Amino acid sequence: MGKFDRGLSTALESHAELLVRTISNTIYLDPPQNPRRPAQFHQLFRGMNAESPEQREARMSRRLSGRDWPVFAHSMAGYERLRNLANCVLDVFENEVEGHFIETGVWRGGACILMQGLCRAAGEAGRKVFVADSFEGLPPPNAEEFPADEGDKHHTKDALAISLETVQDNFRSYGLLDDNVVFMKGWFKDTLPTLGDEKFGIIRLDGDMYESTIQAIEILYPKLSVGGYIIVDDFGAVRACRKAIGDYRKAHGIEEPIEQVDWTGAYWKKTRDI
Ligand SMILES: C[S@@+](CC[C@H](N)C(=O)[O-])C[C@H]1O[C@@H](n2cnc3c(N)ncnc32)[C@H](O)[C@@H]1O
Repeated sequence: MGKFDRGLSTALESHAELLVRTISNTIYLDPPQNPRRPAQFHQLFRGMNAESPEQREARMSRRLSGRDWPVFAHSMAGYERLRNLANCVLDVFENEVEGHFIETGVWRGGACILMQGLCRAAGEAGRKVFVADSFEGLPPPNAEEFPADEGDKHHTKDALAISLETVQDNFRSYGLLDDNVVFMKGWFKDTLPTLGDEKFGIIRLDGDMYESTIQAIEILYPKLSVGGYIIVDDFGAVRACRKAIGDYRKAHGIEEPIEQVDWTGAYWKKTRDI
């Protein structure tokens, strides 16, 4: 028998599934954002009522694989990547892998809300959830230092700039804002070096760019416990992110196989210290 008895394992698993569905909002299946035509609330729902079963199914498929930027859902990672995160969290609990949880690049906070919700449900109060973001969107590319980011346009997307207060409100709306949640506001290059000798059980990188990915992995991977997971949201979607991961793995001789979650998400379990 693992750490939890069968009753608690079943309850945790069903809590995880409920959180994943709620945070990805496969329940109401809100529409994707259209930056060129921001619609009013009533127009959005009129549109949803008017759609055919095939149109709804197509929207559901995009949400399951996290291909849209939702109007309301608290994460854009979609069902499959959030489900992968929940599985990693439950595995870390079960195997008593030491460490806190962190996401670098949180947007509305949904993936961190999921980790915090599972800590709360499992009584894992000793684990903190670190929520690292500028809360102002992405930095403009610094192509001199990070040529792979040349021409990157993420910093122009207002939809990616979600304020700290909004993210805190989102935690509050799930009843999950407490002292276990640590907000790290600022650029990763300034905030992550302030971490001390904390160990992590899960690090989830979702900063899109080469700069944001390399700065996070360089500081966090040495702090990841053996048996813990590193998850990379943009591995398939953003070539610069994939390059940062490849460069880091090569520089440190990391050979654990990369597992694909869906068309973009990827992860591996750390099996040895570097
Ligand atoms: C794609 S969104 C994250 C999506 C989120 N993980 C989710 O589940 O929906 C990228 C986030 O990374 C943040 N970000 C990217 N690079 C950053 C950096 N260098 N420093 C601080 N925040 C950064 C942005 O502000 C934005 O919130």
